[in-house]
Amino acid sequence: MAFLEMKHVSKYFGSVAANVDVNLSVEKGEIHALLGENGAGKSTLMNILYGMYAHSEGEIWLNGQPVRIKDPKDAIAKGIGMVHQHFMLIPALSVIENVVLGLKENKAVLDLKAAAREFSQMAERFGMELDPWAKVETLSVGAQQRVEILKALYRKASLLILDEPTAVLTPQEVKGLFHMLRQLTAEGLTIIFITHKLNEIMEVCDRCTILRLGRVVRTTAISDIQDKQELAALMVGSQVELLTQKPPAHPGDEVLRVEDLSYVDKRGIRALDQMSFSLRGGEILGVCGVDGNGQSELVRCITGLLKPASGSVRVCGADCTGADPRMILGQGVSHIPEDRHKMGMIREMTVNENLILMSYRTPECQKRGFLKWKDIRAHSQALCEQYNIKTPSVLERSGNLSGGNQQKMVVGRELDRRPRLLIAMHPDRGLDIGATKYIQRQIVAASQAGAGVLLVSTELDEILELSDRILVVFEGRMMGILDRSEATAERLGLMMAGARQSAG
Ligand SMILES: Nc1ncnc2c1ncn2[C@@H]1O[C@H](COP(=O)(O)OP(=O)(O)O)[C@@H](O)[C@H]1O
Ligand SMILES: [Mg+2]
Repeated sequence: MAFLEMKHVSKYFGSVAANVDVNLSVEKGEIHALLGENGAGKSTLMNILYGMYAHSEGEIWLNGQPVRIKDPKDAIAKGIGMVHQHFMLIPALSVIENVVLGLKENKAVLDLKAAAREFSQMAERFGMELDPWAKVETLSVGAQQRVEILKALYRKASLLILDEPTAVLTPQEVKGLFHMLRQLTAEGLTIIFITHKLNEIMEVCDRCTILRLGRVVRTTAISDIQDKQELAALMVGSQVELLTQKPPAHPGDEVLRVEDLSYVDKRGIRALDQMSFSLRGGEILGVCGVDGNGQSELVRCITGLLKPASGSVRVCGADCTGADPRMILGQGVSHIPEDRHKMGMIREMTVNENLILMSYRTPECQKRGFLKWKDIRAHSQALCEQYNIKTPSVLERSGNLSGGNQQKMVVGRELDRRPRLLIAMHPDRGLDIGATKYIQRQIVAASQAGAGVLLVSTELDEILELSDRILVVFEGRMMGILDRSEATAERLGLMMAGARQSAG
C-alpha cells in the first residue's frame, strides 16, 4: 500500500487545465521526484495536496484512507509539510517566532524558551547550527530554507514537499540539504522533491513521476533510467541537445571597461574590491563565484543601481560611473536582473504591458503622447512567438505565467532591444531544461550578433559551456580571469573558494 495516493486528480483554472487525471503514488520513506517543464502542473498538484487549492476532480488517499484536505492547516494536522519555491517566513521575526507562528492558538501561553530548546535539539540532531533567536532577515538563503524545513518537522510532518529547493542554493548548501534529506528518509519521512536539475535527480531521488501539459507521462525508478540524456528526453518529450554550441568569438569594440571598481556597503564591508576588466562586443565574459561574493554589487554598480565608492565604469566609450540607470540603459545596455519578481517585471501588469516596459517612450510605441496599442499588441504577439512565451493571450496578467515563461518574457524584451552590452544575471535560475537551453541559445545568438555579454552564474556547467573568458570572484575580489581553453571545473572550484591564480 502506498503512503500517498492521488487518484484521477484534475484541476482547472478557468479554461486552463493545470492537472488532468493525475495519478501519483508515493511510497513511505522514499524521495520521489516530481518532474516536468515549467507550467507542467507540478506546483498546482502539490498545492492541492497541501490544501491551498481545491481540486476540481479526484481523490487523495493517505495511509490507505481517503482524506479531504480543507486548507494548509488541515494538511499540517495530517502530517503534510511544504516548503514553497518562494519562502514564506517573516524576515523581521526571529527563527523561533517563525517556527511557532500559527501554533499559538492551541495554548493559552506559549513558552518560547521551551520551544527554542526543543527546536535547537531538533536542529542539532540533523547536524545543523541555527540560532533560534536570530532574526530571519540576517540569515543566508540556505539557512532560511533550513528554518522552513525544520518548521515543517516541528509540526510533525511525515510527508515533506519541497518545491525547487535548490534553485537558490550554493553548491555547498545543496550538499548539506541532500545530506539532511537522506537522514530524514532514514527516519521514515517521505519526501516529494521538485527540481529541474538532472544531476540532483540522478543523485538523490529514488523514483520519479513526470508531468507534461498537466498529465502524468510516466512513473519510474531512477535506477531504470539510463542517463541524463534519457531523463531530459522524458521531461521535455523529445531529444534535447544538452550542450549549447558556442562558436568562437570575434571580438569587436570594447563595450564595457571597469577600472579599480570598489563598493562599500551599509555595514562598512568592502563588497567590491578593486575590480578591473574589459569586455568587447561579440564576447561572453562569464562571472563565476559562490552567490554573495560581490556579483550582485558588481552588476548594480555597472547598471547604476549602486554608486561605487571609487573606480570607474565605461559603457560603449561613455563614462557611466555613478550615472543614473536610465542614462546607462540608453547606451544600449540590456539587463536581465537576478530577481525577476522584484526588478524584471511587474506581476500585476499584463504580458503586453511588461513587454513594452523599456520601450513605451519610443516612436514605435507612441504618437503625440498616445500609446499605439494596436501596434504594440501585434509586436507583443510576435515576441511571444519568437521567444516561445506560452500565455493564453498577451493580455494575461503576467503573474499568472509559469516561472519559465515569465523569464522568457523578460529575456525577450531585453534582447528585442538589440543591446550592445547584455548583462545577464542567473538568466535561467529555476527554469526547466527546455527553457534553460532556449535562453542559453538566445544569449549566444545575441553575442553572435555583436553584443558583449556579461554572464553571471553560479552554475559551473553553464559558465564553461557559454563563456569565452571566465572571471572568478571571491569576497568581492577578482581571483583571476581565465581563457575558456585553460578553465576546468576543478580549477574554477579552487578559485571560487579563494585560491588566486594568475592569468595564462
Ligand atoms: N493561480 C493560477 N491562475 C491561473 N492559472 C494558473 C494558476 N496557477 C497556475 N496556473 C497555470 O497552470 C499551469 C500549471 O502551472 P504550475 O502548476 O505552476 O506549473 P509548474 O509548477 O510545473 O511550473 C500553467 O499553465 C499556469 O499558467
Ligand atoms: Mg512550479
